[in-house]
Amino acid sequence: MADGVKTKVRTYQNYINGEFVSSASGKTLEVIDPSTEEVMALAPDSGPEDVNRAVAAAKAAFEQGPWASSTAQERGRVLFRLAEKLRQNAPMLAELECRNTGKPIVEAEFDINDTATCFEYYGGMATKVVGYVNPVPDNAMSLTLKEPVGVAGQIIPWNYPLMMAAWKLAPALAAGCTCILKPAEQTPITALEMAAWFTDVGLPPGVVNVIVGFGETCGAPLVQHADVNKIAFTGSAAVGKIIVKQAADTVKRVTLELGGKSPNIFFADADFEAAIDGALFGVFINQGEVCSAGSRILVQKSIYKKFVDAMAEKAKMIKLGAPLDRATKMGPLVSKAQFDRVCSYLELGKTEAKVASGGGRAMEFNRGYYVQPTIFYDVDNSARIAREEIFGPVATVIPFEDERDAIRIANDSPYGLAAAVWTRDIYKAMRAVKAIRAGIVWVNHMQPTYVEAPWGGYKQSGFGRELGPWGIEDYLETKQVYINLNEAPIGWY
Ligand code: NAI
Ligand code: MG
Repeated sequence: MADGVKTKVRTYQNYINGEFVSSASGKTLEVIDPSTEEVMALAPDSGPEDVNRAVAAAKAAFEQGPWASSTAQERGRVLFRLAEKLRQNAPMLAELECRNTGKPIVEAEFDINDTATCFEYYGGMATKVVGYVNPVPDNAMSLTLKEPVGVAGQIIPWNYPLMMAAWKLAPALAAGCTCILKPAEQTPITALEMAAWFTDVGLPPGVVNVIVGFGETCGAPLVQHADVNKIAFTGSAAVGKIIVKQAADTVKRVTLELGGKSPNIFFADADFEAAIDGALFGVFINQGEVCSAGSRILVQKSIYKKFVDAMAEKAKMIKLGAPLDRATKMGPLVSKAQFDRVCSYLELGKTEAKVASGGGRAMEFNRGYYVQPTIFYDVDNSARIAREEIFGPVATVIPFEDERDAIRIANDSPYGLAAAVWTRDIYKAMRAVKAIRAGIVWVNHMQPTYVEAPWGGYKQSGFGRELGPWGIEDYLETKQVYINLNEAPIGWY
């Protein structure tokens, strides 16, 4: 950008029916680098007409053509080849993901590796989808067949852009579905980079379509489209509720992953140093823009004061910086909107609780959406900062008396995505595991997830499970086949 001359930014296109095309209206939206607040690319601002085109392509690809008659082995190999492309191009993808989301480069590299692993996992699973022989009486044979659900609409968020695309595309393709992926409008780039390899890896036209646009104008028509059989969504609870209502008219299958307000519980007998690390990592990783962020930190009263002080002290060591700097632990938030949203919660928090560290924007940066890692303490679980998902680097520390009290507070939330419990007492740990209403409970850790294991929420954190063998279930229909083995007439008359 020497002499104030703006470098020409790349204009991305949608990927529909095996071709890159502009939005029907020709409109574009700006993709922002949140560390510089500059436009880093343009992407299509798609609307209903683009949705119609993409759905028509996906429907045709599902009903006729090579994908419809593909074998499970062939579909598996397609996914392996896509994973290989991702691995070969990992540095480029990690850098783009890093610049577009603001997440530290080291974490972006981790994400791209996980993305490839997800395609490999479901590449292997394609050939392991099996039916069942039902134990009916001997005069018949009854079979259960598993078949692809059809055309899947997949709407994903901006915090793990390519990884969320993989969590949705990989099981759908293994099952034999065709897809319309709508990336978040803030972070559409890496999915479109990946789309450039679809033909090479053997995906026929129309099998995966990627269209970029805003939620109301591009996501909503996808949800309402009569030819879309299923919607998989990850994002806010507010939008999840809209999607369930809008999907009702066409009785679409829906799966939702809606984040939460996850408790990270620390008993007095936990390893203190590991606990402090776990509390900070659990809530500040990826700038706190994590659906399973351990944003409610429940600490036993006997260690509470010492715990809050130690957290505040260690939080000073979290290095905020340029996303591409390998020493950076926290980058900027993804967008101006998210920055404003988080800052408004910081102001609210100061009226609801006490501040142990942080509490505002990071003043050392004169540009970029940087927010200080913030720790509120003496938070009551009924406070808004303890009930509402903030999706930024904001911890709320809540004291508790004993085990009963901890479980009561942990479960007193509309959400139930994740939880963690820290103790050296195996009895206490396992009682907590059983008592907590959440889709995952970590013991003496928080955040590791594996593609082999299920992911999803209880309560208002959503329904359906992604990853593992569970992740393919919602892309499959179940058909019963009845074969009469009795040659005599039915004898009804
Ligand atoms: P959002 O829920 O509005 O966006 C997620 C996706 O849904 C995007 O692709 C968006 O275009 C799409 N979308 C939005 N409105 C839609 C509609 N009416 N119909 C169909 N699709 C629609 O999330 P947003 O506004 O970016 O973030 C707001 C809050 O949502 C965050 O502060 C956080 O609390 C939560 N969130 C949770 C995530 C999770 O992983 N569970 C991920 C992102 C945000
Ligand atoms: Mg929104």
